Amino acid sequence: MSSPTKDRPVTVVEIRGRKRRDGAEPLVMVTAYDEPSARIVDAAGVDLLLVGDSVANNVLGYEDTLHVTIDDMVRHTAAVARANPRGLVVGDMPWMSYHLTVHDAVRNAAALVRAGARAVKLEGGRSRLAVIEAIVAAEIPVMGHLGLTPQSVLAMGGYRVQGKSADAAGALLDAAKALDTAGVFAMVLEGVPDVVAAAVTEAVDVPTIGIGAGAACDGQVLVFHDLLGLGSRTPPKFVRRYADLAGLATSAVAAFAADVRAGTFPDDTESYHASEDLRHALGGGEPGPG
Ligand code: KIV
Repeated sequence: MSSPTKDRPVTVVEIRGRKRRDGAEPLVMVTAYDEPSARIVDAAGVDLLLVGDSVANNVLGYEDTLHVTIDDMVRHTAAVARANPRGLVVGDMPWMSYHLTVHDAVRNAAALVRAGARAVKLEGGRSRLAVIEAIVAAEIPVMGHLGLTPQSVLAMGGYRVQGKSADAAGALLDAAKALDTAGVFAMVLEGVPDVVAAAVTEAVDVPTIGIGAGAACDGQVLVFHDLLGLGSRTPPKFVRRYADLAGLATSAVAAFAADVRAGTFPDDTESYHASEDLRHALGGGEPGPG
């Protein structure tokens, strides 16, 4: 199975076919929440850009993802889409945007598509089948999300690895098969033991994309701020940090502050200049204090 060409947008059909057991290269998904982050991750060649509801924790300063609304997600999805990325833009459906009625769920999924998403993601297993089927029937591709589903933080009593007992692992496997049958084109597996993710990956026809789910998945996803070292929290153990951008950014801003305080910013090349006539009309003095 070949990877999509570099100049053509990645399609849902291509993603759906990317099973490693069929020889496909692992999928790469990274979150993006605005135009600059979308440009950066797309230039790096990711397959999918997830406009995650984790915008809540990573950008908007909330403790959890329960605070973002469909309007927030529409705004951030539109910003990501303005980068015109080659990777597939997946808009995350926030808590309460698909929990009340199927009708609401389809309308909210459509709002994300109109903002620029080319697929939506939603969390949950068997209890979400009717919603998934209705959104798929409206011609909107759906990505599933099983295991540690952050929108269930209150019900789970915290962020806990899921599927750790034989019963729980069996239920997760069963839910994954049901999502596959309901028509998802891929599914995220978050915070589950590696052997459980491996069993799910083997059991379903669509690709699995893991986060804290071991190496056997068909792809991996990380949060932009975690992998670049931009977050304020200590990242979970499954995060590999590839940079310390927060450290770099703080040093850069501190250097700017020092230059301003020392009077060395701006210099002549960083200033606009007027004609001699204007200089004379203003009193002929040198610009600036002193
Ligand atoms: O919102 C998000 O960042 C996610 C990923 C953890 C998969 O859903």
